[in-house]
Amino acid sequence: MAATRKVKIGTARRTETIDIRVPETEPPIWDADAKLTVVGGSYPRLDGAAKVTGKARYTFDINRPGMLHGRILRSPHAHARLLAVDVSKAARLAGVKATATFESPTFFAALDETDESGKPVEGAGEKAATGPRRILFAGEEIAAVAALTPDIADDALDLIEVRYEPLPHVVDLEDARKPDAPKVFPDGNQRPATVWSAGDVEAGFREADAVVEATYTTPVALHNALETHGAVAEWQGGKLTVWASTQGVFGVRDDLAKFFKVPSRDVRVISEYLGGGFGAKFGAGVTGVVAALLAKKAGAPVKLMLDRQEENLATGNRPDSVQWLKIGAKRNGALTAIHLRSYGTGGIGGGAGVSGPVRMIYACPNIKTEEQDISTNAGFAMPFRAPGFPQGSFALESTLDEIADRLGLDPLALRKTNYIDRPNKGLMEQYDLAARAIGWERRRPPAENAAAGPIRRGFGMGTATWGMYGGPPADATVTIHSDGRVECICGTQDIGTGTRTAMAVVTAEVLGLKPEQIKVVLGDTATGMYSPASGGSVTLTSILPAIRAAAELARDKLFRAVAPALAAKPEDLEASGGRVRDRVGGRSAAFTAAAARLKSALISAQAARADNYPGVGIESFGAQFAEVEVDTGTGRVRVLRIAAAHDAGRTINRLTAESQVNGGVIMGLSYALLERRVMDAPTGIVMNPNLEDYKIAATLEMPEITPIMMDVYDPANNAGVKGLGEPPVVPTAAAIANAVSNALGVRVRDLPLTPDVILAALARKEQA
Ligand code: MOS
Repeated sequence: MAATRKVKIGTARRTETIDIRVPETEPPIWDADAKLTVVGGSYPRLDGAAKVTGKARYTFDINRPGMLHGRILRSPHAHARLLAVDVSKAARLAGVKATATFESPTFFAALDETDESGKPVEGAGEKAATGPRRILFAGEEIAAVAALTPDIADDALDLIEVRYEPLPHVVDLEDARKPDAPKVFPDGNQRPATVWSAGDVEAGFREADAVVEATYTTPVALHNALETHGAVAEWQGGKLTVWASTQGVFGVRDDLAKFFKVPSRDVRVISEYLGGGFGAKFGAGVTGVVAALLAKKAGAPVKLMLDRQEENLATGNRPDSVQWLKIGAKRNGALTAIHLRSYGTGGIGGGAGVSGPVRMIYACPNIKTEEQDISTNAGFAMPFRAPGFPQGSFALESTLDEIADRLGLDPLALRKTNYIDRPNKGLMEQYDLAARAIGWERRRPPAENAAAGPIRRGFGMGTATWGMYGGPPADATVTIHSDGRVECICGTQDIGTGTRTAMAVVTAEVLGLKPEQIKVVLGDTATGMYSPASGGSVTLTSILPAIRAAAELARDKLFRAVAPALAAKPEDLEASGGRVRDRVGGRSAAFTAAAARLKSALISAQAARADNYPGVGIESFGAQFAEVEVDTGTGRVRVLRIAAAHDAGRTINRLTAESQVNGGVIMGLSYALLERRVMDAPTGIVMNPNLEDYKIAATLEMPEITPIMMDVYDPANNAGVKGLGEPPVVPTAAAIANAVSNALGVRVRDLPLTPDVILAALARKEQA
């Protein structure tokens, strides 16, 4: 049954009260009026000490009695027919316990669908193939071995004899678009374009006082989570236990159950600690399947962790893009039309679309987007932290700055003019907070900066939006033991964002305890407490409402158990500051004393997440501002400062939320300045599948980052929380590129902004 409740939405500066319909069983919503004492504070990670002391056990750290080590042989060819694989010599090597080959074109077909979050996984379109398997990229899996030691496994790979029939390949985006290009798939390399439109862009351009059009490019980027993909698999009878480095333990479980044709209750997946994923670790993947397959064949546990090279060849990437944008605006900056045409390659996978920011961020009556995936003989793309958005944001925000410069407008004023009016004005406040933090009033028009000496300063900005709220199913159990211990149990995984700590914060809020008093159990399908995969920024938004509901049920049971001892009515009791207190009579008991009243040994309450509430829940927002210094002699860009204001609805743990913002900014900065996968066209191989030649920003590149978390009350769930994992990476590259262009007085339209790109831009300017 649904009930009508009044909720106060908005920000600290302005609120309004609206009616919404929510299920009767929902706890009172944490809206703008909620008085919370634990939620919103700053808490170090509960597992911080375990992580920095090496106590935390990641998948790589799992060792089982009698465990073997798996290794995968990969194709050196970018495109070939796999004619024969002979593992007999490898199998005879002392210490080799199992081999596996994947010659059948349908070997991994069970994985060739979509993962639980609906994202495409590798090899799309190859399912119906017959005859010899076709290898589609250098690095694709050919065979695998399990041996007593990693060295023996490596030696065994050298003994595997493979016959390939090499085929013509194409790895370059532009080459792949040519009519005579080698075909990656039988129907060619150009996937059907995706077209979306609102209004009439041609009419919009006719109304415009200024029209700017330009083409932007972005590179293929590699996820490079600190922990590579991998798993430890162990069969006992017909039951499989897998420790996996994954963003979704339940997805891995279901993939493996399907692949090995066993009931999912016979598969247990554990991921207690995880060194990142960023979108590339959904589902069991080839790595998980091969680990379990080798373990089954060997009759012993197998550890299969990829090395950095494998990680960068065959586990995912962010597609590149070529984006042509045309934008029209009135003299006051009001946008009249945006037309985007783009293409990019996700190798043998899709996902090169970039239109999200164009369609979502700014008010514009006439928008048209046309996007196309181009297939190449390269590793498949996987979602990568706000898929499509960092690329799209770079082109969109750059073009908006060109318009602002053309019209002589302040870029921030132009953004505000085109702000989509939404029920709360959170974004407008974020603009002001971040602009103040960076000192936006110091920004000078490009022409003035260009007149400065060889070292030039510039300012730029960009806007983030993200619109995912999670949803059911998500389940949680909260248990209070008679000795006062409290456990919060959810099968979900902490991909490094601080999920464990956020679970404790919410449980502690409800029970009147401190976060460190809560024992969190997560990362295990055997809990039976379902959670979606940690992708799309939906972890906390999915699980916290269930956790809060379970904690409230457990607390109410505790109140009923102790009420007689306090001569109170259960409904008059409250839990805060480590005590249970009678609001009416004033008597109180310590939480532990109250728990000791439990007749049974424990109280346990389970709850499920409700659907998102209708009528509330707009996107989360962010605004980022950058100050840069560019050396016009060397072309070197230094990012001096980034101010980043974001909201995640109600902030749960300020410290880990700020860490998320810092992490997004750092990843965005790295993308802006350094990262680019380089393919060798003649051989079709990746030239830099390692962390020496694929450079990632580190301490020397770090700017001063000011993360600003602003609470926005817009509760689509009982905790009022929204996603934060992805938004902070969206506008960083755009803000930096705009700052560089502002410093130089000439647009930079190609990422990454390496010295050659900067010097070329300056040379273009001199010619002009
Ligand atoms: Mo994300 S790219 O949905 O992990």
